[in-house]
Amino acid sequence: MPKRQKRVLVTGGCGFIPSNFIRHILAHTPYDVVSLDALTYAGNIENLRDVMGHERLSFVHGDIRDPDCVRDVVAEVDVIVNAAAESHVEKSIQEGASEFVKTNVEGTQILLDACRGTPIDRFILISSSEVYGTAERAPMDEEHPINPRSPYAATKAGGDRLAYAYYVTYDLPIVIVRPFNNYGPFQHPEKVLPKFIIQALRDEPLTVHGDGHASRDWLYVEDDAEAIESVMQADIDTVAGEVFNVATGIDISVQEIANHVLDALDKPPSLKVHVDERPGQVHRHIGSTEKAEQMLGWRARTSFEEGLEQTINWYAENRSWWESILTASESAFSSSAPAQPS
Ligand SMILES: NC(=O)c1ccc[n+]([C@@H]2O[C@H](COP(=O)([O-])OP(=O)(O)OC[C@H]3O[C@@H](n4cnc5c(N)ncnc54)[C@H](O)[C@@H]3O)[C@@H](O)[C@H]2O)c1
Repeated sequence: MPKRQKRVLVTGGCGFIPSNFIRHILAHTPYDVVSLDALTYAGNIENLRDVMGHERLSFVHGDIRDPDCVRDVVAEVDVIVNAAAESHVEKSIQEGASEFVKTNVEGTQILLDACRGTPIDRFILISSSEVYGTAERAPMDEEHPINPRSPYAATKAGGDRLAYAYYVTYDLPIVIVRPFNNYGPFQHPEKVLPKFIIQALRDEPLTVHGDGHASRDWLYVEDDAEAIESVMQADIDTVAGEVFNVATGIDISVQEIANHVLDALDKPPSLKVHVDERPGQVHRHIGSTEKAEQMLGWRARTSFEEGLEQTINWYAENRSWWESILTASESAFSSSAPAQPS
């Protein structure tokens, strides 16, 4: 009898990183993929349109906070990649933390509990570099103190440490991944890079918080997909209970990002405007790449110049994708609201 292929559950599969990851897994592995998504304002079925008919992909419209749904789906899979989240820092500041706690902490707990009742190969938690807060030393390695500075970051830290506790307490095969700032195709227009690109394409002002000095480690989403795949393929006895940064080791300020976008689209520097600094701003983020290189053999391959060019081209060629999101959620994207990295 032919051996059954591994089944991978990707929660939040219709979001930005998870949809790119699913496309990557379908193209580069023989695995079956189940995408589970509640389709919040950030989830977009269009993000998987080109692979929706793929024979190895199935879709469940469900919520990670629903224990019955989660138990049924988890019982059918070998690997879980929990990427579902409320992911927008600014929203957690402006609209309150309640939904963030429910999905990022409680949803993670419900998934973890489902794994206690069924044998699984591994549970990969997509955490975030935001759990570190502002860099106390550079680059930030996985031992950097956890000092979340926004409600979003605090809920990610909650899910991150809860997953670790389930590894220690219940011996579950947990691996925690902390990606730095992703960018690339299919990123919701509320996030800083697509926001700048769309503002520039529309000849609208690019709004920058404070003097724009805040810097981030910018990671092209396909590189992140490769990193998550390498965690999936690694020997579980080596990686269980470990935390991995997914970073480039280079930081670039928001001000420079705005300049790059204007430059690439041949728009005048006068389009950039500065507004008040954001409360809870993270001033510097730069990740150490050492552990992922040594233990996973992974390193980001896309230079910022290359990734930015591909991203700009994608937004220029896929206007209808972002225009329909803007029409549906004009409130989530107000051109007067400052653009922010997470
Ligand atoms: N984007 C980044 O730069 C970045 C960096 C580090 C970590 N992360 C983490 O990576 C993951 C993916 O981020 P993203 O930017 O692609 O997010 P996203 O907002 O684009 O996608 C999140 C997806 O999760 C779904 N979702 C939300 N709540 C859900 C629930 N209760 N049940 C099921 N599905 C639900 C949404 O519908 C959406 O499809 C998140 O965990 C995020 O915290 C993102």
